[in-house]
This record gives sequence, structure tokens and C-alpha cells, in this order.
Amino acid sequence: MTLSKALLLGAALAAVACAAPVTLTGDSGSDPCAVLGTLSLNQTTYQHVRSCYRSIEFNPAQAKTTLDSLYTLYNDVFVFRDAALTPDLALPFSSPPVDIMAGLEKIRQKKYSRDFDFHSDLRSLAVSLNDAHVSYAAGCYSSIAFVQPISLYAPVIDGRQAIRVYEDATDENFKDCEVVTIDGEDATSYLQSWVDKRTGYSKDAGVRFNNALGTFSYSQPTQTWAAKTGEFSMRAILPESEHLTYGLRCDAVKGDLHYRAHWTVVHQLQFTDKASFLKNVCERPPPTPPPQAGLAAKGTKHYKRDLETELKEQLWKEAHRQKYEEKQRSLLSKRAVGEAAPSPQDLTDAVFVAGNVTAVYQLKSQPHVGILAVPTMIVEVATEASTIQRYMTLLAERNVTHLIIDTFGNGGGDVSFASLLIQVLFPSQDKSTAAQRSRFRATPMVATLADADIKNTTYAGFYDPELLADKATFTPFKTNPFLSAENITLNGREASYTQELYMDYNLTAVDQGIKHPWTNDASKLTLLTDGQCGSACGMFADLLVNRHGVKAVAVGGHTKKDLSMFSYAGAAVTSLDQFVDSFEALGLTPPLQRLPYTNTVNVGFIELFSGNETVPLEYDPARHVAAHRLDYTPETARNHDQLWAAVAGVAWA
Ligand SMILES: *[C@@H]1O[C@H](CO)[C@@H](O)[C@H](O)[C@H]1NC(C)=O
Ligand SMILES: *[C@@H]1O[C@H](CO)[C@@H](O)[C@H](O)[C@H]1NC(C)=O
Ligand SMILES: *[C@@H]1O[C@H](CO)[C@@H](O)[C@H](O)[C@H]1NC(C)=O
Ligand SMILES: *[C@@H]1O[C@H](CO)[C@@H](O)[C@H](O)[C@H]1NC(C)=O
Ligand SMILES: *[C@@H]1O[C@H](CO)[C@@H](O)[C@H](O)[C@H]1NC(C)=O
Ligand SMILES: *[C@@H]1O[C@H](CO)[C@@H](O)[C@H](O)[C@H]1NC(C)=O
Ligand SMILES: *[C@@H]1O[C@H](CO)[C@@H](O)[C@H](O)[C@H]1NC(C)=O
Repeated sequence: MTLSKALLLGAALAAVACAAPVTLTGDSGSDPCAVLGTLSLNQTTYQHVRSCYRSIEFNPAQAKTTLDSLYTLYNDVFVFRDAALTPDLALPFSSPPVDIMAGLEKIRQKKYSRDFDFHSDLRSLAVSLNDAHVSYAAGCYSSIAFVQPISLYAPVIDGRQAIRVYEDATDENFKDCEVVTIDGEDATSYLQSWVDKRTGYSKDAGVRFNNALGTFSYSQPTQTWAAKTGEFSMRAILPESEHLTYGLRCDAVKGDLHYRAHWTVVHQLQFTDKASFLKNVCERPPPTPPPQAGLAAKGTKHYKRDLETELKEQLWKEAHRQKYEEKQRSLLSKRAVGEAAPSPQDLTDAVFVAGNVTAVYQLKSQPHVGILAVPTMIVEVATEASTIQRYMTLLAERNVTHLIIDTFGNGGGDVSFASLLIQVLFPSQDKSTAAQRSRFRATPMVATLADADIKNTTYAGFYDPELLADKATFTPFKTNPFLSAENITLNGREASYTQELYMDYNLTAVDQGIKHPWTNDASKLTLLTDGQCGSACGMFADLLVNRHGVKAVAVGGHTKKDLSMFSYAGAAVTSLDQFVDSFEALGLTPPLQRLPYTNTVNVGFIELFSGNETVPLEYDPARHVAAHRLDYTPETARNHDQLWAAVAGVAWA
């Protein structure tokens, strides 16, 4: 269980536990939330949720607090306020300029009657940046999941790419039917324009496309690979309409047909009417105890996880566990080639050698090829690097000489783990070979915060200079770098930034004496990605490729078009609450108020530069392009071992 999930579920349960007993008053017909709250899940429809959402009135006082806090966060903390104005970003990026301050002002001027519309506009503004570090998730309208009975993917068959059915939870046997149209439009264009408007995962349109579609990821509790429903078919936000109509082309027997699919509604919320919905789901619970001192020093700083995605997965798994797992087993058992795997951890063509949070495999068809799966950067930083060194020794003992580093499902985590993983592969006493230059926005309020933090011996927050290192010597600061700010004008706007610095990491977590056949040898390493390797994963990928010369194979996207290796790597993230926590923990008055809602609000607040570049990595498309791009086939999209074999073929042909 990850921190954000724990916090989220914890908060929801706490709110339920301490809510005053609620009695149903009046007739529930006039309160759509009362209807929603009393229906069992199998009776709940899209319309029930929509009616409840739309019945909540706009609250001008709460909206003002929200807008004021967002103004300060976006204006003074968000590190890409001005970079986001950059026009004409080169391919593979496809992301128009955004004036976040003007967007916020427009929302302030608009007259709302529904609360839902207000929060939806704030979400759309955050999404328009195409930077998953900037998010606005209203707890009120992102705690119920909507699931389609089929998920989609886009394999290439006989040189032609088409949308097809990936997972099928219907009893119609639609698996691999071509999806020719969605709601009457060409399916590929429909999906692309949907992700361009509704998801902000990446500045690369091909990565956004991947994000919408089904894929595979490694899961630590079972140590197995499981199909993951893409953003298009499983959502935490209210869909545009109550159903989708797919124009399907199946086999000769079935022919062409139209299939209308309603959304299945999934949630675990407890409420009985509008008042308790507001209290239990939307509104901030009573203040929690102050954050623990030294949280950051324990290695959880610069923590990032996409809350909405996580919430959806949790809900879907809880409510549909049996059906889901049953479908998954059938997906996995229908192998194109090969015999059954000997243990649940093994794949037909790959032996599971060792694993827990990360894992290593050896390919049977190409025994010199090993795989290191790194599905997250949320790890025990003090021990995971040495665990990986031990796993790698097991691979070397089996005569593995070449290593694929599989980053599927990795949306980031701890920045220092990104550095340590580079140190495992390319050990160096020069710490700068495993870190990017970076800098913060520097305003008087954060200078004050950093000052208090450096003086406090027990607390280490996001702005603690002792967790940051000087650029020239890579040693932690003893003085406050936020005091020597420099003004920079970008896209016509001026802002003050710190000097360039590094985020520090503890090199002793890696035993530099341990060497493997691929240590310090870029030609024996390959990075495998679908472009969704985000945040700290992206920082790792940038260092591995752009600094140490490893080549990447990116899978999926649009055939014959370049695809990014990673997304939103150019920054570290803070939430609005974490920012306020730092001030409160140090006894300072925060410069902005917490929101009156359970919302999750994040911004990128430390920008990074790849190599000697002067453009921040987040706005540097050339540094994102993968050396190789591979199309999915139905086989490689469903059998991860076959994908590994194909990647080894591309990398070491
Ligand atoms: C619907 O859900 C309720 C409560 O979970 C259950 O008792 C009932 O059998 C379900 N009905 C159908 C038709 O599945
Ligand atoms: C597996 O990882 C979890 C989470 O980091 C950890 O608590 C557990 O001790 C690990 N198990 C083993 C056998 O290393
Ligand atoms: C590894 O290679 C050595 C030398 O060729 C050989 O003796 C040994 O049996 C091989 N080990 C495995 C596990 O294949
Ligand atoms: C630097 O920029 C900030 C923000 O625009 C401005 O308030 C400040 O006066 C500028 N400082 C200098 C020295 O120009
Ligand atoms: C670095 O890690 C080692 C081993 O875990 C620990 O003993 C040491 O105190 C750490 N150093 C710092 C500066 O945190
Ligand atoms: C240092 O921070 C801790 C944790 O927030 C706090 O309890 C303590 O009062 C602070 N010490 C000083 C001297 O401000
Ligand atoms: C920056 O440029 C210098 C001089 O060309 C070079 O030696 C150094 O390796 C470069 N640094 C990085 C991080 O690429």
C-alpha cells in the first residue's frame, strides 16, 4: 500500500467514523444523492451519479478560498508557470502553450451555479498543461469509478494499426475484434482527441494514446504481471455520456456489428443524502495531527503518485476482484505459443529468478538476456538498491550478460532512488553523474521557510537546504540558497529562481565494488518503456540514456512515429497540503490556505535540466525521443515475455 492511498482511504474512513448519525429527511426523489447513497452498486447507473453530482450547488465562499490558494500555488510555487507559455514545441511533443494564470482568472470571472462545473474547469485547466505533476482532483467528483466492459489496445497486424478489443468482460467473445468506430467516429481519431482533451499524462500525443489503452504491469503483492485497463475504459471522472457505442468488425461469422456499452459504477462510499455526501466525500475532515518531523530525511520526499489512477485501480480491484481475475486468467492462458508456465511467477519464455518490489527474470529463448523490472520508484531507499545488486548477481551466475530494464507501470516515486539505480549500473564517486541540475522558484516566503528549516535540527521538509547539494562540489548546503535568487525572464514573464543545485542522495546505499557483465557498459543495457515512465522513473531514464548512452526501446504509440521514453521527468512534485505542512511544522504562517475540500492538488516545484541543456527537461522534446520504437502485436501486448524477446531482438540483433 502506498502512502497516498493510505492517506486517502484513511481520511475517508475517519470521516465516516466521526460523522454524526444522518437521518433521511424528506422524500429521496428530490435529492438525487439520497437515491445514489441507498442503491446497491449493481443498481447504480451513470445517470444516478450524474444527477447527484449536478445537484450540488456552487459555494462562492469555498470557491474563493480555493481560487486564492491556487493563485499563490500557481503563481509563486509552480516552477513551469512561464515555461508553459512556450509555443511550437517540437515533435514528439504535441502540447499547445498554456497561460495558467489567465486560465485561473477566467474561472474566477465565470458565473457558476453547479459546484461540479467549477471543479471540472479547474481540473481541465490543470490537465491542459499535459504534465501529470500538475493535477486537480476534486474528492467530491473523483471517488466513484466508471468501467467499460471492454478495454482497448492498438496493435499492428500485417503492417496496419487498428484499435482492437484487449480485455473483454462481456459474454460476447469480442476479444481482438477491430473497433472501427466509437460513437460513429473513426476510433483512432476519437481516442486521440479524447486523450488530448481529457488526460494530461504527457506532452507526447503517442504517450497519451498509450495511457488510454490497456497494457501490462508487474504487481508486488503477487509478483506477477497483470493486465491494466487504460484510462479510456476505466475512469474516476464522470464520462461524457451514459454509454459508448462501438462499431466492431469481428470474424467472418460475427461480421460487423454495433455494441452499446453502459458504464459500470464502482465505489465504496458511505452516505445517505446530499448532506452526508458533502460531509463524507467532498469536505475536508477535521484537522489531522501535524506531520511527523524528519519525514523527508527518511527518503519519502519528492513523492509522486497519480491519485486518480490509484484510486480507480483500488476500487476496480476491490469491487470486481473475482470477475477481473477470472478474465485475467483467461487472457494469460490463451497463449499464442509455448507451454504452460511452471509457477505463477514464471512466464512461458521467462524464468522468475527473484523479486519483491522489483524483480529479475531470465529469458529461456535467449538465456544471455535478463530483465530487471522496476515498476515503481516508491521503494525502501536505504535497501532496494542493494537488493537489486543481489538480484543482478543471481542473473550473472546464470550467465546472463545483457539486461533489459523494464519500466512498465512506473509512475515515479523517490528521486534519490533514481540516482541510486544509476549508481548500481554506472558506479561513480562523482555524484553528479547520477543526478540532474535543478532549481526552484525562489520567493521571500520560501526563503523564510528554508531559513527556519535549516535552523531546525529535527525537521527536514521539502525546502530543507541540507537535503540539497551545491552545484560545484555536490555537498549539502550549510547556508540558505533561497536567499541568493536570480531573476529570469521566460516567454516575456519575469520570475526569481534559486541558483542551480542538486537534490542530494546517499551514495553509501550502493556497494560500488559489485560488478556485473553489464556494469558500465551501455551496449549491454536496454531501457524498455511505453513512454509512461514518469517523474523519478523519467529522471532515471534521462540519465541512463542521455548521460550514459543506453538506448531505449519505446513500445506502442502511433506506428512509424517517434515516441517519448518518459513523461513529466522535468520536475519534482509537491501537493498543496505538503507545502502548507512544511510551514506549519516549523511554526510559520503558511502563505496560502488549505482547500475546504478533500481535493488533491499538485504542482511541479523543482525543475531539472538534462546534461548541459538550458531548457528544462519538461520542455525539451529532443531529450525524450527513444532510439527505437516497437509496434505492439496481439502477442507482445498480452505476453510480456514475448515483448522482452522482441525487445532483445531490436536491441541486440
Ligand atoms: C445486487 O447487489 C445486492 C447487494 O450487494 C445483492 O444482494 C443482489 O443479489 C444483487 N443483485 C443482482 C441481480 O446481482
Ligand atoms: C518485500 O517488500 C516489502 C515492501 O517494501 C517489504 O516490507 C518486505 O519485507 C519485502 N520482503 C522481502 C522478503 O524482502
Ligand atoms: C555458465 O557458464 C559456465 C562457463 O561456460 C558454465 O560452466 C556454467 O555451467 C554456466 N552456468 C549456467 C547456470 O548455465
Ligand atoms: C524579480 O522578479 C520578481 C517577480 O517578478 C520581482 O518582484 C522583483 O522585483 C524582481 N527583482 C529584481 C531585483 O528585479
Ligand atoms: C547514508 O546511509 C548510511 C547507510 O544506510 C547511513 O549510515 C548514513 O548515516 C547515511 N548518511 C546520511 C548523511 O544520511
Ligand atoms: C522543529 O520542528 C519540529 C517538528 O515540526 C517542531 O516540533 C519543533 O518545535 C521545531 N523546533 C524549533 C526550534 O522550531
Ligand atoms: C557538459 O559539457 C562539458 C564540455 O563539453 C562536458 O565535458 C560534460 O560532460 C557535459 N556535461 C554533461 C552532464 O553532459
